[in-house]
Amino acid sequence: MLPAEEIPGDRKAKRVFRGTSWGNRNDVSNASAAELAAAQRSLAALRSAAAGCRACQLWEHATQTVFGEGPRDAAVMMIGEQPGDKEDLAGHPFVGPAGRLLDEVLEEVGIERDDVYLTNAVKHFKWTARGKRRIHDKPNAAELAACRPWLDAELAAVRPQVVVVLGATAAQALLGRSFRVTSQRGKQLDATGIAPSVVATVHPSSILRAPDETARAEARQAFAADLAVVARLL
Ligand code: URA
Repeated sequence: MLPAEEIPGDRKAKRVFRGTSWGNRNDVSNASAAELAAAQRSLAALRSAAAGCRACQLWEHATQTVFGEGPRDAAVMMIGEQPGDKEDLAGHPFVGPAGRLLDEVLEEVGIERDDVYLTNAVKHFKWTARGKRRIHDKPNAAELAACRPWLDAELAAVRPQVVVVLGATAAQALLGRSFRVTSQRGKQLDATGIAPSVVATVHPSSILRAPDETARAEARQAFAADLAVVARLL
């Protein structure tokens, strides 16, 4: 294998390519996510191309790519930050504790999880070791940018009526660095260019991290109120 080489002019994204040719689309180690995504039309084809994505370094320590899941004609797409430990092992988004909380609240507000396309801004689990535990580590701007073509391809394939951004990472990736979930949560945003309606809310894992029972109950209630706004748009 040739030594890894940084693409000139793209230092931030730090895309690494280890081969000689950009032409062979089967050689995923050579391609950026944008190139891989552009060659695919169906979600199944996108998922299988993303399985070999090497557009940033996160694949090296992740078990697998966790691509989005849900109906191709889903009216609502929910976008989280990145898969967690459980998702990384299972290969499916939102199957860990945050996903279970999301499921409960979706049911409460009358949205079927099976009707939702669930995905993440970054498709590999980023973590640091603490003893034997793998602790979530926030993706940086370069990793978000490297992974963005997959999200754009999912949005183009599903064309949801409503996009729900879960938490500050997804919100800022899609709505800009100055976007504040705290002040804008639960509002119907309709001029984003992403989907006819966008609603931002907190990430369900933030509710799980609330310091005590009372704070957790309040945070859960506010989350349910935001998702009720989504339910009314469907
Ligand atoms: N958190 C996320 O943002 N996405 C998942 O899939 C799981 C936890």
